[in-house]
Amino acid sequence: MRRESQHRVSRRSVLRAGAGVLLAAALPPLPARSASPDAHRIAATPARARLAGPDRPETYVWTYNGTVPGSLVRLRQGEPTRLVVENRLDQETTVHWHGIRLPNTMDGVPGLTQPPIRPGESFVYEFTPPDAGTFWYHPHANSLEQLGRGLAGALIVEEREPIAVDRDLLWFLADWRLTEEGGIAPRFGNRMEAAMSGRVGNTVTLNGRASKAESFRAAERVRLRLVNASLARIMALRIEGHSPVIVAIDGQPCDPHEPGGRILLGPAMRIDVVLDMRGEPGKRYAVIDDFYDGLAYRLTELAYEERPPLRAHPLDASLDLPRNPLPEPDLATADRHGLTLQGGMMSGMMMRGGAMRGAGMMHGMMGMGGGPAWAINGQSMTGDGHAGMEPALTFQRGRSVVLKLRNETAWWHPMHLHGHSLRVLSRNGKPVPHRQWQDTVLMAPKDVVEVAFVADNPGDWMLHCHVMDHQMSGMMTLLRVA
Ligand code: C2O
Ligand code: CU
Repeated sequence: MRRESQHRVSRRSVLRAGAGVLLAAALPPLPARSASPDAHRIAATPARARLAGPDRPETYVWTYNGTVPGSLVRLRQGEPTRLVVENRLDQETTVHWHGIRLPNTMDGVPGLTQPPIRPGESFVYEFTPPDAGTFWYHPHANSLEQLGRGLAGALIVEEREPIAVDRDLLWFLADWRLTEEGGIAPRFGNRMEAAMSGRVGNTVTLNGRASKAESFRAAERVRLRLVNASLARIMALRIEGHSPVIVAIDGQPCDPHEPGGRILLGPAMRIDVVLDMRGEPGKRYAVIDDFYDGLAYRLTELAYEERPPLRAHPLDASLDLPRNPLPEPDLATADRHGLTLQGGMMSGMMMRGGAMRGAGMMHGMMGMGGGPAWAINGQSMTGDGHAGMEPALTFQRGRSVVLKLRNETAWWHPMHLHGHSLRVLSRNGKPVPHRQWQDTVLMAPKDVVEVAFVADNPGDWMLHCHVMDHQMSGMMTLLRVA
């Protein structure tokens, strides 16, 4: 809670004061303030976690500060931050602060924006987050395996004027592929998966454990920060008997609106919803993810306490989050470019290269002999990003840019641009209702999506699919702001 708000006598600040008590139970409090910027220490380190439940074996995982998800990093909008990352793994790593508009040298792409952090060494990340909202952090080195073994955490930048809620909750969702014995299944980078939907797992955790139920009180209002930290799993969530209102997407506030069905959450995406707990004391309501046909499962249940409702009437406070200082692209004068996503199973790309004709998909794929499975505009940048790659596009600093992303493939792709936020203008020729800002745009097969932004952040920025297998096997490129 910010000090200035405590002195204001309004209904809103009273509500917020009340909320603070509850908030403390949900999210750990901010560290005490000091004259120097708040320093956070984050160690990438192996640990053990009980992901699948108390009665199931422990899993050997890689973590930030020993927990899954990693330490929650809470920052204040517009205040300088220092994050000291120490590498206690036996391989190189880096940290990418996903969605934060920060200086290029702090972006965490090994070989491109910084040298990799070697085992036993540290790297100091320093930046001032311009935007408040829900973000996350993860490695950008050996990304498929490091993220798949657990390296990920939430990063929350606080609003100066938050909306009034009773509790501010984080649901950090992650997908794991576990063996019977509780280990993490080996063979990251299976070529068949890489050319299809990626490494979708078999165990989804909510804040680091498979959840049977989450507890709520009737008539409370909660802000639920949903983060999909999965390698590949797309989620489509619906909550029985409740009407969540989306108030922010990828950290950026949007016009509060109901999703009209399910909440679609691709890998790396975040959605903040406000949920008025209109259920009855003692009852339970399922939260279902049914994105994949025939593979619906129960993510958790909302379990109402027996206690009477928190209040007699639902809150009527505003759900409008204060907007972040994003520069508005000028569509009339914008530079216009196209980026076409290509490849994958069932594409010509998979079949090229000699005696593949009639050999069938499976054969065609093996025939690739380790070549990239995906491309953007005919080029495949593989791995984690490295120096020496020519940018696909170069923009003059300060120019407005409209990108037309075309998904020519038969697969879904959450496309992420580093260092910027993208205003989503249209999808398949139709204007998008809320023109929301996103840093990760989920594209269905054959989708054509137009996005716009101001190229105001100088440097070399990755643009890639956040299905990690897809990124590693070629669905990645580089955009330069000169
Ligand atoms: Cu969260 Cu380059 O990615
Ligand atoms: Cu993809």
